[in-house]
Amino acid sequence: MSAVRIGLIGAGAIGRAHLVGAAAAPGVDIVGIADPSPAAHDLAHEFSIPWFPDHQALLDRQDIGGAIVATPNALHVPIAMDLIARGKAVLIEKPIADSIEEGLTLARAADDANVPLLVGHHRRHNPIVRQARRLVKEGKLGRLVSASVLATFLKHDAYFNEAWRRSKAAGPVLINLIHEIDVLRFVCGEIESIQALTSNAVRGFDVEDTAVVLLRLKGGTLATITLSDTAAAPWSWDLTSAENPAFPTSSAESHFLCGTDASIALPTLRMWRYPGERGWHHAMESETVPVARANPYIEQMRHFAAVIRGDETPLIDGFDATKTLQATLAVRESAESGVCVTLTDRVSPQSSDRSTPNALGFSGGSS
Ligand SMILES: NC(=O)c1ccc[n+]([C@@H]2O[C@H](COP(=O)([O-])OP(=O)(O)OC[C@H]3O[C@@H](n4cnc5c(N)ncnc54)[C@H](O)[C@@H]3O)[C@@H](O)[C@H]2O)c1
Repeated sequence: MSAVRIGLIGAGAIGRAHLVGAAAAPGVDIVGIADPSPAAHDLAHEFSIPWFPDHQALLDRQDIGGAIVATPNALHVPIAMDLIARGKAVLIEKPIADSIEEGLTLARAADDANVPLLVGHHRRHNPIVRQARRLVKEGKLGRLVSASVLATFLKHDAYFNEAWRRSKAAGPVLINLIHEIDVLRFVCGEIESIQALTSNAVRGFDVEDTAVVLLRLKGGTLATITLSDTAAAPWSWDLTSAENPAFPTSSAESHFLCGTDASIALPTLRMWRYPGERGWHHAMESETVPVARANPYIEQMRHFAAVIRGDETPLIDGFDATKTLQATLAVRESAESGVCVTLTDRVSPQSSDRSTPNALGFSGGSS
């Protein structure tokens, strides 16, 4: 099997992670980096990969099956549209777009052109997250009652030296919470409504530093997310899952899923149940559900190559990712308006062919 030829557009922090992932993924060859910055030029030199000042030059000069779009958010949609127009498969970083309308426009363009569009919600490729989803879907917890998510961590002061990070365009809701929303949808089911409070009391910037979110999921499961980037706390996926070597890892847990038969904490996959008689006067026992750990960025790259070859369909396509965006934007909307936001189902494909199984063997979507 010959390697799939892929371009990288945008070679900043996450672009580098994609390069490392591609080097470790089987059957993947990064054949060009498009990014105007001098740092990206140096990076291309370091990895001995041809460098191009922009994506059109890369497309003109290299024969590729697809490309990764890892640019600032505002460029996601225009660059991905150019790729789709040339029939190139796309792995686009999250968020898919800045607005629901743009996300839908892109999703429809990919659908109409029959070009695969995969969105970089990489946690879906983590075996721990997949195992949790499997346990929930197979009813191993009984009926899912609640999910409690903690995303509490401390961003260093220098992080806020750049003005945009203190503005409403950034902040932990748009940058970090979107991952929690996507994992909740993927593992626990679709979100029906959202109520949220945000606060900027600690840093006093325009953008929030802390948020609490209440969510009602389909089927009646209730969920909460506590989010803060100003908390000296280890309870977050990034600081516990060992997913990203940029962060130290602690043995703490961050996600707690409670069912009528059993409950489980992530990322440890420690599952609690009653060995005999049930009820709060009896002791519970715990065991760790085994899982073969894997780097989700490498898994995502392997999947993208399979998508380009036509062996798999995107684990999260443009419509699915726009639903995650819709729920994330609803958090800000609810915090600003004070009302509970009900998510409408305007985010759905007009038509889609999902006959090819995706990486999990499910038929697509998160429901
Ligand atoms: N999935 C994840 O875990 C994850 C983590 C971090 C960031 N992200 C997402 O990845 C994207 C990039 O984030 P980042 O932290 O790497 O940002 P970054 O600022 O470190 O890198 C962005 C890069 O894009 C380049 N760029 C700017 N304009 C360009 C253009 N017209 N063509 C090509 N390249 C261009 C910049 O020079 C820079 O090198 C964002 O959308 C972000 O939300 C995802």
